[in-house]
Amino acid sequence: MDSFEGPQGHSERFGLHHVDFDLPDRPRTPKQSAYFYSKIIENNGFASREKLFNAQETKNIEPNKVSSLPPSTVPSQTKNVWSRFSSQTNFQRKLYHYGTFPDGFSWGVSSSAYQIEGAWNADGKGPRLSIWDKFAHTPLRVDNSYNGDIACDSYNKVDEDVAVLKKLKVTHYRFSVSWSRVLPDGTYNFINEAGLDYYHRLLDALKAANIEPQVTLYHWDLPLALQKIGGWENEIMVRRFYEYADVLFSRLGQKVKFWITLNEPYIVANLGYGYGTFAPGIIGKQYIAAHNLIKAHAEAWHLYNRKYRAKQGGIISITINSDWAEPRNPYKQEDVDAAKRYLQFFIGWFAHPIFNGDYPEVMKKTIHERSLAFSPSQEQRSYCLAYSIIMSNTPWFKGLDKTFCPCSPKTYPTTFFNDRGTGTTHDRTWIESGSFWLKITPFGFRKILKFIKDEYGNPPVYVTENGISERGAVDLNDIHRKHYYEKYINQALKAQVLDGVDLRGYTAWSLMDNFEWAAGYSERFGLFFVNRSDPNLPRIPKNSASRYASIISCNGFPDPALGPHECLNPEPEGKIMLCHVIPKLCVYGEI
Ligand code: FCB
Repeated sequence: MDSFEGPQGHSERFGLHHVDFDLPDRPRTPKQSAYFYSKIIENNGFASREKLFNAQETKNIEPNKVSSLPPSTVPSQTKNVWSRFSSQTNFQRKLYHYGTFPDGFSWGVSSSAYQIEGAWNADGKGPRLSIWDKFAHTPLRVDNSYNGDIACDSYNKVDEDVAVLKKLKVTHYRFSVSWSRVLPDGTYNFINEAGLDYYHRLLDALKAANIEPQVTLYHWDLPLALQKIGGWENEIMVRRFYEYADVLFSRLGQKVKFWITLNEPYIVANLGYGYGTFAPGIIGKQYIAAHNLIKAHAEAWHLYNRKYRAKQGGIISITINSDWAEPRNPYKQEDVDAAKRYLQFFIGWFAHPIFNGDYPEVMKKTIHERSLAFSPSQEQRSYCLAYSIIMSNTPWFKGLDKTFCPCSPKTYPTTFFNDRGTGTTHDRTWIESGSFWLKITPFGFRKILKFIKDEYGNPPVYVTENGISERGAVDLNDIHRKHYYEKYINQALKAQVLDGVDLRGYTAWSLMDNFEWAAGYSERFGLFFVNRSDPNLPRIPKNSASRYASIISCNGFPDPALGPHECLNPEPEGKIMLCHVIPKLCVYGEI
């Protein structure tokens, strides 16, 4: 157990059991390592392969008490999740789970307008453009001065895109509409029919291929004209978004049964209006931007509900992204609270208002207190988060008009990090990707899904993006991506089957290598490689594409012992590509 460690006193802890030295009876709590060690003793070493592989997890994991910490200052269901999994060894949590998803599970792949379309000023899109056109044309904003002028030229390649979707055997394709292509000045004063026509062509081609569209209204490419009046800092955006949504619902709604209002408002607010590393590059205005984004989502959601749902019969939701977080030391109250705050300031910032009608208590309280402490006068304080924004539980949110958000304090050092009051670190054993922010941690995927179930009342969930990047030399034999999808989708299966998460669909990011925002084309997330040195921008399958297609055909991971399963050995139809390391060594072959 933890004990007195010479000159280091109690600050270095070697124990298999945690000892709380602040309490007079010095309680001992087993750490995960204690369970692991006792398993080794029980098995007199490491269990045989056979024994381990038969050790499929069941629904009834014996929850282990994480610790006897006093009640937390951050109310949330996080502790449920930690305690459900705390007795699992590293080995157990990596165990493969054989099984399949329910019938009707949707399988998709994702993209977004600015990242793939190109045709940046074609057919009436120019000269008004979007904030990403401007940002990418500003020196030093995007790696290697890359831009989305041509991107993957999807605007001119509807047939090619649908052909590769067919190879993947997806049931759904998630793409976004470029607001400035449809409404070049951001308002419905002028509807650009040529721009709208591109989406009609795409939707028709998808229908012919029997692939359901999932359409995102806003994936970060705001019309520049709207940024000129303040963009998401200006409350008028709520109205503008409502009008834009009205145009899309009325003009495309007969062909779309799955709408997503906003993609990842956390990124829009924090990177676009907080740190300024994404377009439009504004600093310190994340709370007001987030506030208007949430209201815009609510307006569009209610518009669809009221005016279109009965006629068109679709569903509408929002894409909210989040990391999972764990306390660095689960036996320390400070760390436990820090991890909970991290989650509340991430997923909670957007999900809490949508599910519960208001921001998380901890956000409101901290930001309010800090603004009082740091701003000398009443006018300079931020009350943004102190007011309720009553939304989803009311039939038509009357409270919305009264929402007051004068949130631009002059002196309050309102950095999001300070308000959150939590630093982060990562385990150095986690496998890296081509993006500094992204490590491979499949166990976290299962946990965040379970957290969503527990925290927000088991809502239906669709994963709208999940994927991994590489950078540097091109290698079509992308073993890391195959590994990534197998492990993550398997954890999703465990969440669905063992934890009872109401998971309805899974969508990989991304269909093909594309313009990865400030990283340009240096980070590649695609299941298909886009050869940018060939003017035709051919889409070439990476090896992970056929693995993903096989998981789709199998609807998961059927147990080979109960086989044979034909879906485990799929061959793409027609031509396949056999590749070794560099694309030049790829040869085409007929099956
Ligand atoms: C998501 C974005 C998507 C892409 C992936 C890597 O946050 O929605 O456009 O950048 O990350």
